[in-house]
Amino acid sequence: MMPQKYYIETFGCQMNVHDSEKMAGVLSKEGYLPTNDRWEADIIIYNTCSIREKAEQKFFSELGRIKSLKKRRPHIKIAVAGCIAQLQREGIFRRAPHVDLILGPQNIHRLAGLVGAPSHTTANEENPGIADNDLPVLRNRGGRAWVSIMYGCDNFCSYCIVPYTRGRERSRPSEKILSEIAELGREGFKEITLLGQNVNSYRSDLDFPGLLRKIDSLRSIERIRFVTSHPRDLSDRLVDAIANLGRVCEHLHLPLQSGSDRVLNLMNRGYTSGEYLEKIILLKERITGVSITTDIICGFPGETEEDHGETKKMLKEIEFDGIFAFKYSPRPGTAAASMDGQVMGEVKSRRLSEILELQDTITLKKNGGLSNTVQEVLVEGYSETDLTMLSGRTRGNKIVNFMGDSSLIGSLAMVRITEAKKHSLEGVAS
Ligand code: 5AD
Ligand code: SF4
Repeated sequence: MMPQKYYIETFGCQMNVHDSEKMAGVLSKEGYLPTNDRWEADIIIYNTCSIREKAEQKFFSELGRIKSLKKRRPHIKIAVAGCIAQLQREGIFRRAPHVDLILGPQNIHRLAGLVGAPSHTTANEENPGIADNDLPVLRNRGGRAWVSIMYGCDNFCSYCIVPYTRGRERSRPSEKILSEIAELGREGFKEITLLGQNVNSYRSDLDFPGLLRKIDSLRSIERIRFVTSHPRDLSDRLVDAIANLGRVCEHLHLPLQSGSDRVLNLMNRGYTSGEYLEKIILLKERITGVSITTDIICGFPGETEEDHGETKKMLKEIEFDGIFAFKYSPRPGTAAASMDGQVMGEVKSRRLSEILELQDTITLKKNGGLSNTVQEVLVEGYSETDLTMLSGRTRGNKIVNFMGDSSLIGSLAMVRITEAKKHSLEGVAS
């Protein structure tokens, strides 16, 4: 019999991309083959995201399109995984009866056993043991790999759905993390990104700075990154670890969300703008050339023009290397969704474009500061926009496109920066 083929489409964040690699690992181990073409797949998996309404809508319109495919090839199995699966469960079957399986993010280990289950099976139990599961991972090449160090989130920021979809915070035992990373080194990976909703609160026999120190001393990987950090839990020891450990990259993604203390309080973020600024000052003081990126939410319930102005003020003062900014999207069941003072769509859009416009000039200025410097770049492949150029990232996580030999792909190259653009840098191999 021909081996069956699976197709996975991922919506949302890095966490989901890595979960998809785990699903691919679980299925490949059982002899299934991956395909990039959903029209020839026997199993179609959607790994969904519910962080904002837009991500949900994108998925549901894809689910509508796939209906005709199921009619034409009734033997195929359609699975919905990820956060929408966790939240909407059987509701998905009612809306889309052509779906066969619902698989929550804490149930990936059961995937292989469930693809043959009767249609309309649901697997979305809470799984406190998730941190101890060693799932096979089928990774994309290119020198970079993600490694989960913790699962779930306990912060309950008032806008955020994550604590409801991914459950309570659990840290993975350090020896499992270390042995996975040692193995990645043997396989030739040059860079790892440690993944968790709030890596700064990692706790096993080690805390997060302790874990970084151990990973650094393995010497099996050239570069260590991590996402995401919570400003409240960013300790002095962590700043020192980034400053002193040679393999830990000088980049931090530190979501600010808002520059207004009133809004931060409504968001349940646990810090003020002043406390956030102090951490930024410390980071800039102790870590030479540190690159800092952030997330901003525009139009949180009750956000006034003055609050919005405070956010712009913070952006000007801090000069982030890059930001991700989003319009606030009410998520059913979260505290903010039922708060007074929901902001109108046009106002959110206008505030978002003001924030993005302001940051564009700042990003360009920051990138310009790298002109004529030589940067270490991990070469990932060819540039997406120009296939004659190679593309990779600096230690500060900036994209660099440059002329160079294809043999450099997967290795570290020194590149002189010749031009700064808004979303990338250009350079020549030096
Ligand atoms: N609306 C808009 N943005 C959100 N984020 C999380 N929840 C929401 C929401 N309901 C953003 C935050 C977070 C990033 C991953 O997504 O900025 O840091
Ligand atoms: Fe959501 Fe806040 Fe947890 Fe991040 S820290 S996942 S924004 S609840």
